[in-house]
Amino acid sequence: MENLWTPESWQKHTAMQQPNWPDAESYEKILQEISHYPPLVFAGEARALKTQLAEAAQGNGFVIQGGDCAETFAEFKADAIRDKLKILLQMAVVLTYGASCNVVKVGRIAGQFAKPRSADLENRNGEKLPSYRGDAVNDIDFTKKSRTPNPKRMLRTYNQSAATLNLLRAFTKGGFADLNKVHLWNQEFIASSPQGKKYEEIATSIDDALTFMKAVGINSDNTTALHLTEFFTSHEALLLGYEHALTRQDSITGKWYNCSAHFLWIGDRTRQPDGAHVEFLSGVGNPIGLKAGSSISPDELLTLCEKLNPENEFGRLSLITRFGADEIRKSLPPLVQAVKENGKNVLWICDPMHGNTYKSQSGFKTRHFDTILEELEHFFAIHRAEGTIPGGVHFELTGDNVTECLGGARKISDTDLESRYETACDPRLNNEQSLELAFLVTDLLRSK
Ligand code: PEP
Ligand code: CO
Repeated sequence: MENLWTPESWQKHTAMQQPNWPDAESYEKILQEISHYPPLVFAGEARALKTQLAEAAQGNGFVIQGGDCAETFAEFKADAIRDKLKILLQMAVVLTYGASCNVVKVGRIAGQFAKPRSADLENRNGEKLPSYRGDAVNDIDFTKKSRTPNPKRMLRTYNQSAATLNLLRAFTKGGFADLNKVHLWNQEFIASSPQGKKYEEIATSIDDALTFMKAVGINSDNTTALHLTEFFTSHEALLLGYEHALTRQDSITGKWYNCSAHFLWIGDRTRQPDGAHVEFLSGVGNPIGLKAGSSISPDELLTLCEKLNPENEFGRLSLITRFGADEIRKSLPPLVQAVKENGKNVLWICDPMHGNTYKSQSGFKTRHFDTILEELEHFFAIHRAEGTIPGGVHFELTGDNVTECLGGARKISDTDLESRYETACDPRLNNEQSLELAFLVTDLLRSK
């Protein structure tokens, strides 16, 4: 009866987690400007991703979604972008080779600049300033000027996203993601580690297979699948003004698409069924994600499935669960059962990062590799027990050699954290920890 979605209909709903922009006029002017900028992605690409997600939801493929918790203006460097792509490609190869399935590659990149926060204000020694909400909104420095939301930052967000995407497209379409380059993705600093060596073995086997295929006439020139070119972008659709300004009508289908990324998700703090975020994403044609933590009930989840995927299409809705290694055992089964019993077609993805964050003794926000793995193990076990499909993983990671998460093969300890703790928000797996997890996820995928 009501379904009167328009690109503006979200404005009649309550939007949580929006910045208090001090100057409404300049905010509106900037959004106007962005609304005339070219789209960053195209509807056809979003549809291609949706098709792949639909396959993964039915057990024909597996999704890796990963990247920074928050991209920053300071870390805007070709090498950093390339290294993030490298680690995601490496992880994809490990999974494709080990579990013999198509891996859908989705970066948390080229648009992941806005963060929800638990409090509006941050208090340091009695001084209260607006919380850091991501580089799209304000600066992380704790001064009044830096922390005041500045809408001009959305222009920079658009420009950095465009340039990042341009580089990703050049890398993936220009041959860098070709399977003949598998050795190139192994970065020097991990090549000698046990993970790096294990990876080299796979890369060598792939080389052998490619040599054989070449001998029988199959090569990169005549077989596009060898290029591994498909790489998609995603971010949390948090700043609704910005997302709205990049939402355009597709000339082929007449449908509206959010052209700021291929895949957008709704965060755990903004998923109120009557809220503006749910309203906004309910009407765009992109494949979308919904983060679900321990506060969601089966009924609420079903309501959200109906609202976000009324036609019950495969590939449209991914449920990205993030409970924590203990909580998942209690909270995931009732959700899976409700979704199954009500015949809702979804793709289940595990985010083992956000329910496992804590402050270590040394005062750093961190996560332990073992706890991350434990949540993944429960995720696979629960889906196997329920007869549903564990369809993907969602990681916060970087291609750099940072020290933000504890554990892993190098046993990063609390006292190591300070040596390269560089994240602007949540702790990320480093390159080696990410590759190690890819091997472990492969084992989980194989142990059906
Ligand atoms: C995130 O993915 O960085 C995030 C804030 O997640 P969630 O909404 O699940 O807390
Ligand atoms: Co995060």
